Amino acid sequence: MIATKTALVTGADRGFGLYMVRGLAEAGYRVYAGRVLPDYTLLDRLAETDPNVVPVWLDVSEEKDIEELRDRIARESGRLDILVSNAAHMGGDNPSELGGTRPIDFAMLEKDFCTNSMAAPVLTDRMLALLEKGEDRLLFYTSSEISSLRLMTRVGAMRYAQTKTALNLGVRMLFNELRPRGYRFRLYQPGGMKRMLPDGTLDQSRGSVDPMDSAAEALRQILTERMDEDRLALIDYHGRELSF
Ligand SMILES: NC(=O)c1ccc[n+]([C@@H]2O[C@H](COP(=O)([O-])OP(=O)(O)OC[C@H]3O[C@@H](n4cnc5c(N)ncnc54)[C@H](OP(=O)(O)O)[C@@H]3O)[C@@H](O)[C@H]2O)c1
Repeated sequence: MIATKTALVTGADRGFGLYMVRGLAEAGYRVYAGRVLPDYTLLDRLAETDPNVVPVWLDVSEEKDIEELRDRIARESGRLDILVSNAAHMGGDNPSELGGTRPIDFAMLEKDFCTNSMAAPVLTDRMLALLEKGEDRLLFYTSSEISSLRLMTRVGAMRYAQTKTALNLGVRMLFNELRPRGYRFRLYQPGGMKRMLPDGTLDQSRGSVDPMDSAAEALRQILTERMDEDRLALIDYHGRELSF
């Protein structure tokens, strides 16, 4: 049966995003799952077994993709209850080290600020009319501990860290405006997760957290009402609040 309540998850081809899609579908939502990776077919496999999983092409830095998806959700569901803004470009082969062989440059900064920081407020804005028609009014943003001015004491990954700090401020501004209208916010630090490979196994060479476990905690935080919804908090995958 097709669910009435509706969710959207960005960056859902693999790992954390994929498990968020699966968990929300299991929790009774029809889930639009944003994909950008042609090499990953894990979403297709999930959709074959669950009609409430709807893979959709969504490059969050492309206004056209966002607006086409908004129109499609409006036609098919007429509402959006939960928005999970998870897509991010994490650095890849250009970690933006000072004086490195591939140093920080404007082009990469611009691309990553667009994807990691600016897209979440734009996406929220474009989906607002649908969110108003939903019941849950739950907005989830995947941040990171490296976004924290206080906690970020490491070196390297400067570009990525900057984009997550800017994301936090964007979320703060959304919170200031939308919390009085009944929206609930989740700003989440998922932990140093292992990367999922195209066959669904995890690359064991980096990261310590299984994205399935981190997504389970994120889902718990989404599906549980907090006592202090009037406060924006950065919460990690152990349920601990972080300074940011
Ligand atoms: N992994 C960690 O240790 C860690 C730690 C703290 C926070 N986080 C955050 O947790 C979230 C999920 O991380 P993850 O480890 O699951 O990473 P991931 O597997 O790389 O997932 C993020 C997905 O977003 C995609 N993406 C990149 N640009 C996009 C765009 N313009 N539009 C739509 N999607 C786009 C990525 O594709 P590409 O591969 O092409 O970039 C990737 O598929 C991210 O927000 C990340 O910043 C991760």
